[in-house]
Amino acid sequence: MADQPLVLGIETSCDETGVGLVRGTTLLANTVASSVEEHARFGGVVPEVASRAHLEAMTPTVERALRDAGVRFSDVDAVAVTAGPGLAGALLVGVAAAKAYALGLGVPLYGVNHLAAHVAVDQLEHGPLPKPSIALLVSGGHSSLLLVPDVASDVISLGSTVDDAAGEAFDKVARVLGLPFPGGPHIDRAATGGSGDAVAFPRGKYDDGTLDFSFSGLKTAVARWVEARERAGTPVPVADVAASFQEAVVDVLTRKAVQACRRYDVRDLLIGGGVAANSRLRALARERCEAAGIRLRVPRPGLCTDNGAMIAALGAELVAAGVDPSRHDIPADSSMPVTAVHV
Ligand code: KG4
Ligand code: ZN
Repeated sequence: MADQPLVLGIETSCDETGVGLVRGTTLLANTVASSVEEHARFGGVVPEVASRAHLEAMTPTVERALRDAGVRFSDVDAVAVTAGPGLAGALLVGVAAAKAYALGLGVPLYGVNHLAAHVAVDQLEHGPLPKPSIALLVSGGHSSLLLVPDVASDVISLGSTVDDAAGEAFDKVARVLGLPFPGGPHIDRAATGGSGDAVAFPRGKYDDGTLDFSFSGLKTAVARWVEARERAGTPVPVADVAASFQEAVVDVLTRKAVQACRRYDVRDLLIGGGVAANSRLRALARERCEAAGIRLRVPRPGLCTDNGAMIAALGAELVAAGVDPSRHDIPADSSMPVTAVHV
């Protein structure tokens, strides 16, 4: 094992400064510094605040990851970094740092896709990803269904959200319910005390035959429902609204994920991204996959939300596949398409 290359992964696409160290498919460190509290009072991530926080957190987070892993800079064999998609200024900090580390250490640089990395990270926990797999990626910025013949080289988009991302809908509905940002975990928690069928909220694009999603109509329906209650002076049953909203989201996500597996005759489904930490999504996906004869893989919550281990995992995969390193003048690409695994 010791002769497999040691990859340092750097993630700065949003508000987490993530640094991971991976050797082969073994996770050695996953260190995260988050600026989420600095954004909370704005109800969303403020790009300039995130960029400055990355700048301040970068060096200490890298040093902490090396300490956690018990390795030195001179042990690092390659540096991987999120090249996109994400917030332009935030990405730029990570890409500049990764170039400096790669140049300073005299090791190759790999600019990788954040979304493909959300898929690759599962290999650290559950072993090699079957080829092909279907991946459902649900985060604050993205909701996509992917066909993944090979995470190192070939990722095909089957469908995505036409408006809000699933996590964005969680965050906006949390705000309507007076819950803190980011709302996903708070809705998840509140929902445990409520009923998923207390309110019949709409399920966008449920039966439209596509593998696309839409969550903006649902979000508006929840806001209208809550407003009507408030106008009438009736208390808002927060737990029931949270549970019913959550049920509508995970019902559509799991239904379309199973449809994608059937349509492409794929037996392995992976769910990744921050929303994959949702307890009801995990439970319903387990139930529906079992009924459909599909094997389900969901990384543990700490590997679902943005982190550096996922970037190191994809970097290690590229090294193992013999992929050429990136040039040292790669840009940060805020709208990098999911089909581009690396640059
Ligand atoms: O992948 P991620 O950390 O960052 C992006 O790439 O966007 O995802 C963050 C999103 C946020 O919208 C957050 O509310 C949501 O993931 N999230 C959850 C849960 N934990 C995080 N949504 C629902 N249930 C959760 N338990
Ligand atoms: Zn993400």
